[in-house]
Amino acid sequence: MVIMKFKNSKKLFKEAKKYIPGGVNSPVRAYKGIDTAPPFISKANGSKVYDEDGNEYIDFVGSWGPMILGHNHPAIREALAKQLELGTSYGAPTRLENEMARLITEIVPSVEMLRMVNSGTEATMSALRLARAYTKREKIVKFAGNYHGHEDSLLAQAGSGALTHSVAGSAGVPANVIKNTIVANYNDIEGIESIFRHYGKQIAAVILEPISGNMGVVPAKQEFLDKLREVTDQYGSLLVFDEVMTGFRVALGGVQSLYSIKPDLTCFGKIIGGGLPVGAYGGKREIMEMIAPSGTVYQAGTLSGNPLTMTAGLTTIKILKENPEIYDQLEEKAQKIQKGIEKAIIETGVTANVNRVGSMMTIFFSDNPVYDYDSAKKCDTKNYSKYCKLMLEMGIYLPPSQFEAFFVSYAHSNKDIEKTIKANGFACAKLL
Ligand SMILES: Cc1ncc(COP(=O)(O)O)c(C=O)c1O
Repeated sequence: MVIMKFKNSKKLFKEAKKYIPGGVNSPVRAYKGIDTAPPFISKANGSKVYDEDGNEYIDFVGSWGPMILGHNHPAIREALAKQLELGTSYGAPTRLENEMARLITEIVPSVEMLRMVNSGTEATMSALRLARAYTKREKIVKFAGNYHGHEDSLLAQAGSGALTHSVAGSAGVPANVIKNTIVANYNDIEGIESIFRHYGKQIAAVILEPISGNMGVVPAKQEFLDKLREVTDQYGSLLVFDEVMTGFRVALGGVQSLYSIKPDLTCFGKIIGGGLPVGAYGGKREIMEMIAPSGTVYQAGTLSGNPLTMTAGLTTIKILKENPEIYDQLEEKAQKIQKGIEKAIIETGVTANVNRVGSMMTIFFSDNPVYDYDSAKKCDTKNYSKYCKLMLEMGIYLPPSQFEAFFVSYAHSNKDIEKTIKANGFACAKLL
């Protein structure tokens, strides 16, 4: 085992804390609870990231999802270099935006029109504004443990960093805003039926991660998604799929293609920007045409549809579309890792189990299966933190929180997978 040094990262983190709240520009990056400073990353290539101390890691964070093809992909780099010669931002319509909208509407049939934004947060926030305008209703239903970005009304019992840092809501959210948010239990059919019986005609939209990644990976049951489609149709509410993480990840057409469900609106992010800042929302033409300037729902963005983002995103999506075997290989790679982890769990007797959908997975330190927020919260987060640190010290870069997904990329080699399985075995044994 190589003993890693974190001297430069520690120094940089100390400096960062002087100027940046908590030393980071997004909370989970702070490695709170991991008992080490976060590695400050200086470069990335293929399946690896490298830190300021010269340590090399096999990366399963993948910039929190976008890097499905691995880092610094030659085709994306080349396309970006070409676009750089043409300028970085115009604030005017471009051919690239047409191409992006056409491509996504072709791949995801429920999306008839699309609006680009700059983050997943903007996508969900805008989709809900649109849903409220379309239905002329105010209430929204979200699920405990799902994370949709940091928009005020969606921060109730949110997953991801909010769950990691035990923030039930967020300070600064007006009671008036949150009063229109109904928080339901994920995968709970009776719960959702009851909410609709009570509030059905007031509900503008149900928003959810149709496979959740933000309380760790928790797939929705088919019957649960079917029920959501049924009750939203019955009561005239909109069904909004937040596919910011799952879109182009679990399958080219996202969760909706796997479960054969047509949401009214879909939110995207991550992969569609190829590693550059991005978000998008789209859906039925009749609804989308309510957005300004064709309609009265205002939503805008100085850098929306930025040509560099469109270039990186288009290149990524085209590679995925033209090479469907990528998804088979992602499945194969991720399955190998899952089996390796599960074997070590059995052999060492450590209390843990794995949830996985395609190239997204989580090792939960719990003796119970995890299917919703309450079961996720029962995990031994201290054990996860120890595990994460042990893995880091062996050169495996995992999300520093129990409530996040590992992402396998197309760039992960057999050697990477073997090394990861070996490190996992060692970490599990050490935990006991
Ligand atoms: C499902 C989901 N929705 C929305 C967001 C927010 O996206 P962003 O961080 O780009 O604002 C995230 C971020 O991880 C996410 O996983």
